[in-house]
Amino acid sequence: MGGLRVAERAVSVDGLRDELRKLSVLKGAAPEFDPADAPESPMELFSEWFMLAVRSGVTEPHAMTLSTVDADGRPSARVLILKDVDSAGWHFAISTLSRKGSELAAHPFAALTFYWPELVRQVRVSGPVVADAPAVAAADFLARPDGSRQMALTRRQSQPFDRLGELDEALELARQELESAPDLVPDEWQSYAVRPDEVEFWQGDPQRRHQRLRYSAAGDSWSRTRLWP
Ligand SMILES: Cc1cc2nc3c(=O)[nH]c(=O)nc-3n(C[C@H](O)[C@H](O)[C@H](O)COP(=O)(O)O)c2cc1C
Repeated sequence: MGGLRVAERAVSVDGLRDELRKLSVLKGAAPEFDPADAPESPMELFSEWFMLAVRSGVTEPHAMTLSTVDADGRPSARVLILKDVDSAGWHFAISTLSRKGSELAAHPFAALTFYWPELVRQVRVSGPVVADAPAVAAADFLARPDGSRQMALTRRQSQPFDRLGELDEALELARQELESAPDLVPDEWQSYAVRPDEVEFWQGDPQRRHQRLRYSAAGDSWSRTRLWP
């Protein structure tokens, strides 16, 4: 792998650059946040921020970006739904057959990013990824809507395909599989927790005096550090 190179400036899409310059950011209603009053654990502060996000009508506050890297250290990221937060960490459930599943198997570390524009807040969570007990994955899978379980049972997420008919055929087979075994939980359905060694809370400010508080794991407790905006 070489170092960074300077890219030649490509021809830009008509008007996109101007459109980008016109857009505003950090226009939400920023609540008060004083890092000096923050609770001892990032789970507690996340819970406070999350509940406020729900009460404030933030759109899909449980949608988060999961970033992973492959065996060569190349990153990839996608949006997923948060399933739970507890002392073990931030939980999500996926198919191990997907790209993210392979990447986590090769390199079990991840970062999660939440952005709640209505509150001008961002939360970043990172650390090793650990598998939850099979019962957690099973409960998650069985609570999923039919369509979601059927799609998972096609066992082909993130693989290329050509013919749309293939998808319908695979879904029909999955539907029949579920009909004959309604409690089926595929082996490849797995729940994981990001067990954070770092969690950063970012409260944006239109004047750019953002408040940043980083929690770092220190044995069984947490140290808290303010970060320059
Ligand atoms: C709001 C939102 C929620 C999503 N929820 C899930 C989910 O719960 N499970 C899932 O596998 N993909 C979900 N996706 C799709 C993923 O972003 C991604 O496209 C898919 O998991 C394949 O990723 P991969 O190829 O990196 O494995 C969601 C996407 C969005 C935008």
